[in-house]
Amino acid sequence: MASGQLSREEALACVGCRHACHILLYADTEAQLFEEIPIRHIVLMQMRFDGLLGFPGGLVDPSEESLEEGLSRELWEELGFSLSVTVEDHVSSCHNPSSSSSYLITHFYARRMEEKEIREVEKAAASTATDHGHEVMGMVRVPLYTIKGGGGLPSFLSHSFIGNSRSQLEDALVRFGLVTPEELQTALTHAEQRRR
Ligand code: GTP
Ligand code: MN
Ligand code: MN
Ligand code: MN
Ligand code: MN
Ligand code: MN
Repeated sequence: MASGQLSREEALACVGCRHACHILLYADTEAQLFEEIPIRHIVLMQMRFDGLLGFPGGLVDPSEESLEEGLSRELWEELGFSLSVTVEDHVSSCHNPSSSSSYLITHFYARRMEEKEIREVEKAAASTATDHGHEVMGMVRVPLYTIKGGGGLPSFLSHSFIGNSRSQLEDALVRFGLVTPEELQTALTHAEQRRR
């Protein structure tokens, strides 16, 4: 396993650790941008109250609920959508040694949905979700293409992200075949140039 990574079981055995669970929701789509550029996949992130991008989810206390129950609860609060997350959806767990207060372990999940369901999530997140306009400023879709001048994924990756959510995104895009490793590398190179 990569450094900082640990299994779900190892993570739960940690005494005094805090846990946060977040999820990547994605779907395939036939849609095209400007009737020309394939969108290929819908990938959801959120603009948080603090102006940073991140995934839906939040803090879970395993002494009160399972990681997956806690994540499902957070999704109800932040998305207004009932989604029963299971251990099958677990992707990775990671230490965050730099986090200030007590030790935080971030658990990452992913769920593939139908485009129709993703649209329902977006609709609920912008209307009935209790956290809408409070902890969550809105859901956003991640552009996966790179267009001239570094628009698309490179620009998106140039924004500021909470915690290690940017690397969670990059790993997941390749892991689930949403972009190729070469496409990600190209986007990262453009993103690096934009920051200079
Ligand atoms: P409250 O309800 O206000 O407690 O917030 P929350 O439970 O929704 O917690 P939040 O989603 O802010 O996540 C808790 C902590 O996990 C944050 O302070 C970040 O350090 C970290 N975090 C937040 N979003 C992400 C994410 O998408 N990925 C990762 N790896 N960490 C995140
Ligand atoms: Mn237009
Ligand atoms: Mn929350
Ligand atoms: Mn949250
Ligand atoms: Mn919370
Ligand atoms: Mn809250």
